[in-house]
Amino acid sequence: MKVYLDNAATTPVDKEVFEAMKPYFSEKYGNASSLHSLGRQAREVLEQSRDTIKKKLNAKNHNLIFTSSGTESNNLAIKGIALANKDNNKNNFVSSRIEHGCVLHSLRWLKTQGYKTTWLHVNKEGFISLQDLNESITKNTLLVSIVHGNNEIGTLQDIKEIGKICHDKNVLFHTDACQSFTKTPINLQKQNIDLLTINSHKIYGPKGVGALLIRDGIELEPLLSGGGHEFGLRSSTENIPGIVGFAKAIESIKEQDIEKMRLLRDMLIKGALEIKETWLNGTENNNRRLCNIANISFKKVEGESIILHLDNKGIQASTGSACASKSLHPSHVLGAIGLKPEDSHGSVRFSLGKYNTKEEIEYTISNLKEIIEKLRKISPFK
Ligand SMILES: Cc1ncc(COP(=O)(O)O)c(C=O)c1O
Repeated sequence: MKVYLDNAATTPVDKEVFEAMKPYFSEKYGNASSLHSLGRQAREVLEQSRDTIKKKLNAKNHNLIFTSSGTESNNLAIKGIALANKDNNKNNFVSSRIEHGCVLHSLRWLKTQGYKTTWLHVNKEGFISLQDLNESITKNTLLVSIVHGNNEIGTLQDIKEIGKICHDKNVLFHTDACQSFTKTPINLQKQNIDLLTINSHKIYGPKGVGALLIRDGIELEPLLSGGGHEFGLRSSTENIPGIVGFAKAIESIKEQDIEKMRLLRDMLIKGALEIKETWLNGTENNNRRLCNIANISFKKVEGESIILHLDNKGIQASTGSACASKSLHPSHVLGAIGLKPEDSHGSVRFSLGKYNTKEEIEYTISNLKEIIEKLRKISPFK
């Protein structure tokens, strides 16, 4: 049996999405900037796709810029705000210790340029404290950037309250919603969001497409110089097949898919925790956890060995976030919620998707039980 449980790393492209994209490679291949009919056809579908995504987010007062990825959108949000404001006295950014690497590294790069960052701690469930946030915003703060759904432990932050605190203090709020988009409702109006990052390959769309939503009136400095595409904010010929796929992916995901992932996630957690000396990382409050992520620690075993043994049985999971999973450093997210390095090394992230079945989860649990028992017998840790 083949069981793919690494959907937080990436998802397969939905067949409907693939079919919708196909004509835009070989028949409707126009450049959206061309004046002729093929170009106008591309422009039309580009704007339709933009509207579909904006509608899903209730983005009435926001513009949507297509980018190449979640990474690019996060870079554009953070560096673009910094560079657009370099002449005023504000130079402080507030973020959390459990951000995705592209946010961490964008902020570290800004530090080399003279900007400052305040890193908020999280509690053992992975939540920032709203009081800490309130106290950390100063008159020099330009932007608060907090991930919505964490990619390793699945914790969902209270973005509406975070946004409210930011707005009460006249500070911009950006959230990285690459993992949460379509899995939990996002409403840009109601949740006080100024800038939002999303991408396509986590939601059964193609890789290499992302978007940044920007509230009207917010100035950003573009990171790419060129022909002035995407309202002058992201030069480069638009990836029409990818953008069509992104919009189609949003239409294809159904409420029942979310409910199914939630049930299978809970089934997997229950089965895995029947193994002795294991625990669930992140919150136990299922309403504040992504519907598809279960990060579990197994005492006295190495996560990498578990992954390889699972892979031998056709089951694919991950030890950390996809980009970091080859690294031998313990995960910064698990460290931030208080795990000791040796416990971080014994952790596995299972991330479910809409194609998983009950039988696959039963198969995973029974193999997991056998593998952990076997590995513990030969473990040097006693
Ligand atoms: C929370 C989060 N932000 C950003 C990214 C980066 O997205 P992309 O792979 O589209 O660059 C990811 C993907 O791993 C993610 O999980």
